[in-house]
Amino acid sequence: MVIEDGIFGFSLTRIAPAKINLALHVVGQRADGYHLLESLVTFADAGDRIGFSVSNEDRFTLSGRFAADLPNTGEASYRNLVLKARDLLRAHLHEKGIKAAPVHLHLEKNLPVASGIGGGSADAAAALLGLLDLWQASIDRSSLQQIALKLGADVPMCLYGRPLVARGIGEDIRTVMDFPSFPMLIVNPLKAVSTPVIFKSLTDKTRPPLSMPPGKPPRDGWIDVLKDLRNDLEPPARALEPEIGAVSEALGLTGASFVRMSGSGASCFGLYASAEARDAAAAVLSRQNPNWYVLPCHSVHGEEDHDDRE
Ligand code: C5P
Repeated sequence: MVIEDGIFGFSLTRIAPAKINLALHVVGQRADGYHLLESLVTFADAGDRIGFSVSNEDRFTLSGRFAADLPNTGEASYRNLVLKARDLLRAHLHEKGIKAAPVHLHLEKNLPVASGIGGGSADAAAALLGLLDLWQASIDRSSLQQIALKLGADVPMCLYGRPLVARGIGEDIRTVMDFPSFPMLIVNPLKAVSTPVIFKSLTDKTRPPLSMPPGKPPRDGWIDVLKDLRNDLEPPARALEPEIGAVSEALGLTGASFVRMSGSGASCFGLYASAEARDAAAAVLSRQNPNWYVLPCHSVHGEEDHDDRE
């Protein structure tokens, strides 16, 4: 999302919202090793921020609480998905004869890295959308989705930024209309978890599929639906990083209506009946666990009567 109150000195700022897997079912594995998933996903109204400006030469700068966890010098910086996104999009535009001027990109890294809430993927998606704005270029949706998928399995869904179901390895996306917004608390023990390691330690790779409810459940009805769904990566992640269990249990004790791990962890989230209940929970958890990352936010609302599946 583009925001008004942007990063100082940049012509454009986008938020790269945290991605939350409300459910993540592993239903198979492709010949190339990638796992087939069925995931109900929503997004937070908070995340990293990226500033965009046209510049004399390409520049990349970093700030934010977790900036030090990303390499920003020499060869290593080119592993950053924001720069990969810039380079892939520019190459695509050049092929089409569209100019893509040098840019200064600034990443404010507010989300913990390797934490199951899609920080790097959200950054890549926000970089693609922001650069298209800055360069005043437009490309067809399917080319954009293809570029996104080259950057990572979760990047296509991050282009949507609203409630959706993703299938395949994440490329088959259908938005979920009328999905409610929930007061949400994201908590991470600040232990990085490697996604490939968690996938590799899965023993059963063909678990039952995601079943979505017919019609439009009411708000509380969605909580009951979520309770019947799973994150199949949670058991192996808990085995590898026991602090995930501690985070999940602590969230449960704060009166959350629903608690689960997101992605491959270690972030867990709680959904609450009210913003007051969420804020009280955030205060308790921050006091009891000063080393944990605690982000009070809302999940975004699914729009009505608008399905833009491509
Ligand atoms: O696509 P991305 O770079 O985010 O994935 C990181 C790693 O997670 C992959 O290299 C793969 O090992 C694993 N993965 C998987 N199945 C998926 C998504 C990711 O096995 N659907």
